[in-house]
Amino acid sequence: MILSRLSPLLKIPALQNLGREALGRMDPEVAHGATLSALKLGLVPEQERADPPELATTLAGLDLRNPVGMAAGFDKNGEVPRALGRFGFGLVEVGTVTPRAQAGNAKPRVFRVPEAEGVINRLGFNNEGHEAVFARLKGQRVGAILGVNIGANKDSSDFVADYVSGVLRFSEVADYLTVNVSSPNTPGLRDLQSDAALQRLLDAVLKARGKAPVHVPVFLKLAPDLDELQLDAIARTIEGSGLDGLILTNTTVSRDAVAGLGNAGEAGGLSGRPLFAMATRRLAQMRQRVGDLPIIGVGGIHSPESAIAKFEAGADAIQLYSALVFGGLDLLARIKHGLAAAVRAGGHAGVAGLSGRRTDAWARGEAGL
Ligand SMILES: Cc1cc2nc3c(=O)[nH]c(=O)nc-3n(C[C@H](O)[C@H](O)[C@H](O)COP(=O)(O)O)c2cc1C
Repeated sequence: MILSRLSPLLKIPALQNLGREALGRMDPEVAHGATLSALKLGLVPEQERADPPELATTLAGLDLRNPVGMAAGFDKNGEVPRALGRFGFGLVEVGTVTPRAQAGNAKPRVFRVPEAEGVINRLGFNNEGHEAVFARLKGQRVGAILGVNIGANKDSSDFVADYVSGVLRFSEVADYLTVNVSSPNTPGLRDLQSDAALQRLLDAVLKARGKAPVHVPVFLKLAPDLDELQLDAIARTIEGSGLDGLILTNTTVSRDAVAGLGNAGEAGGLSGRPLFAMATRRLAQMRQRVGDLPIIGVGGIHSPESAIAKFEAGADAIQLYSALVFGGLDLLARIKHGLAAAVRAGGHAGVAGLSGRRTDAWARGEAGL
């Protein structure tokens, strides 16, 4: 884990293992707090060499120096985007941020499923709210593409208004915005993915975006728990809407991939390795429906091979979170190395050349790692 790379002292292998083991035994939320503190203190090393040119790509008009991002939920309050950029992420998505601060659900609310390298969380959008996060991000030079993921307060009487207020608040500081309608931990939120509600939400959000002085791309983040008819309906709704891209996927409420394992019975969203096949299939199925609309692939990436597979299923860029809990932050360097090698081996000009090469097989559920 990140603490294992804390200081020169912790670079000694025995101490490194101690750090990782200690974090592995801690309550996951406490361990996460320790990792954030390490990042805040500047104890995580900077990437030493510039990314190889074949990793550079564009996404919805944004220039990425590499296509590997930190997924939303790691830095909910925008405390460490610069440290994450310096560590080597090409994009960093902070949030989910809601208009007003909220505490989230009762603890414990994050659980490891270690046998499967999975995580279950029911945090419930704990965050400091728009104003606090905006104040932190204003004027920051992140050094990576900065996304702000926006949501609705649990007790809001008007979810759509909460998203609109997020767009208005963060357009000035974000390189892109993510409309998160796929967290399973805010009752009613995922209903915004269905026909009329999604139409109304996108109309309002994109109208608000139009008021910003600069064009900020807007992504919509979807759940993996959608069937093909629901994907059809979403594809119809977003066609011609002006939406800039999709993020697939958020965590799943399904427990099929972890049935019978300890903690599998905890309520919340499952992420990490057991989400990989489902999230990648959903991504491919959506790719088949939206032509070349930019898609960020997320869900269960845990190795260079799984990162490459996400691109082959149809992603233009990727994000990860849970695997860092099990694999350590050096996974990022390994993934970037693996992607660059795959680009070169395939004779492509850049990482975009990997995208969509196996979409149909992934969409049918016939591809695997
Ligand atoms: C502890 C935790 C908190 C999360 N919080 C958020 C969040 O606030 N907003 C969001 O859009 N996704 C959130 N996610 C989902 C991740 O961004 C990502 O979509 C999901 O975990 C799948 O990726 P992974 O398997 O690489 O973790 C969270 C995930 C975890 C594990």
